[in-house]
Amino acid sequence: MLRSLLTTFVLAALHGASLVSAQNAGPAGCVSFDIQWNLLAFGFNGKDYNAGTQDTWASGAATDITTTGRPPFDHLNTTCYLSQFTNAIYFINADKANPSAIYIYDATAKSWSMQQVVQGGFDPSDFDAILDHDTNVFYSYSGGEMYSLDMALLKSANSTAIPWVDVQEPDLSIDSTDPATVKVPGANTDGYKPVLALAQNHVHFIGVPGIPSGSAKIFVIHFSYMQPAPQSYGANAFPTSHGRAASFFLDQGVQQEFAFIPDDGSATYVVSVETNTTKTLTGPPQQDPWASYSASTSALVQLTTAGEVAFLPYDPKTTVNGGTWTKVSKLPAAAFSSSQGTATSSGNGPRATEGSSGNSTNGSNNQTGGANTLELGMALLTGSALSMIGLFAL
Ligand SMILES: *[C@@H]1O[C@H](CO)[C@@H](O)[C@H](O)[C@H]1NC(C)=O
Ligand SMILES: *[C@@H]1O[C@H](CO)[C@@H](O)[C@H](O)[C@H]1NC(C)=O
Ligand SMILES: *[C@@H]1O[C@H](CO)[C@@H](O)[C@H](O)[C@H]1NC(C)=O
Ligand SMILES: *[C@@H]1O[C@H](CO)[C@@H](O)[C@H](O)[C@H]1NC(C)=O
Ligand SMILES: *[C@@H]1O[C@H](CO)[C@@H](O)[C@H](O)[C@H]1NC(C)=O
Ligand SMILES: *[C@@H]1O[C@H](CO)[C@@H](O)[C@H](O)[C@H]1NC(C)=O
Repeated sequence: MLRSLLTTFVLAALHGASLVSAQNAGPAGCVSFDIQWNLLAFGFNGKDYNAGTQDTWASGAATDITTTGRPPFDHLNTTCYLSQFTNAIYFINADKANPSAIYIYDATAKSWSMQQVVQGGFDPSDFDAILDHDTNVFYSYSGGEMYSLDMALLKSANSTAIPWVDVQEPDLSIDSTDPATVKVPGANTDGYKPVLALAQNHVHFIGVPGIPSGSAKIFVIHFSYMQPAPQSYGANAFPTSHGRAASFFLDQGVQQEFAFIPDDGSATYVVSVETNTTKTLTGPPQQDPWASYSASTSALVQLTTAGEVAFLPYDPKTTVNGGTWTKVSKLPAAAFSSSQGTATSSGNGPRATEGSSGNSTNGSNNQTGGANTLELGMALLTGSALSMIGLFAL
């Protein structure tokens, strides 16, 4: 309720009467990157665009990459995720007629396909998700449960539907020292509006009620293990609130940092899971709680519900705080109109625009064994070397 009031206010303030109505949903379109870090924009007034690399965003026109097989982008709350190993981008909630389908854009072949999904208990109108870097498996939180969906190394759809598998009812309890609250399935999940963020193959649950600011509950993917104690990310604490998250890629290997933008847009927090510290950068230009975000190796990009794209440059080594957001003038403003975006029944919830990327266009990263095998195989291993071994070990 508070959120929709806030949204109403923000949208009214920014755009007057130009919008059809106040939204309680994210854009019916999405921005992401390919593995050369070209900025790709999808569902912009019925078209898709390649805006090129960051050094070119200030001028010129983006390349129209609209082609057949694309989803209609007629569904609000569209989310997208870069699979770095395959140079593919996966889309959830891009097609009203197929609300549970995952669309795949092969950024190398520039072609589309639609992957059928066995929805199970996963609710595409209410979830948040990340795409794990090393396993190429989605992890989502929906209705108090965690689900996974194994994309294998798909660049185009498999004719066999892929299931959302129930992983566990996560323990989001606060006090790990109290035996009564440790590893209690479902603890503290009531009413939790998920914000999932990915780094080092760890799923971070942000904004868990009662968790100290600057902390997150962590699910360790390779062990399928929820850490009982929240992890602190230092004194420069981000608030315990709902928001959005996006992971910064590296050219190779798993992401080590993610950005968290609380719904009020007051700041952009960048969390390093290597140093357990947080940087405070400038908040986005439009304080839109329904905006979506994507990140490359060197920029965080915001797509607002009003269809505007802006970016904040980021260098893991030299950026310490602050920073300046700039509009990506190369992209047209998208109008996510009611005809494009008024969903009838489903949609999807707060989401993290995550993805992953390594350097495996040459197919050396073979993980046909799939995540389950991987996790079983890894279950006896310990230590952080695990994430480096990742799928290369198989
Ligand atoms: C498609 O899915 C089936 C069933 O999971 C699997 O056996 C097959 O290898 C998959 N094919 C491709 C090309 O991934
Ligand atoms: C990725 O692989 C390509 C081709 O093998 C190579 O040219 C490029 O330098 C690699 N990038 C990185 C970051 O290793
Ligand atoms: C970060 O925190 C984890 C868990 O508390 C700890 O194991 C790790 O050593 C810390 N890393 C640094 C660099 O302090
Ligand atoms: C968008 O997601 C929000 C949050 O989960 C949900 O309340 C809303 O119904 C969704 N809207 C649509 C049109 O799917
Ligand atoms: C293939 O990828 C691996 C790992 O990313 C790399 O070591 C190797 O040099 C690559 N081979 C070619 C031909 O690009
Ligand atoms: C990947 O590994 C599987 C099983 O280990 C093997 O059957 C398959 O041929 C491999 N694929 C590639 C492209 O190396």
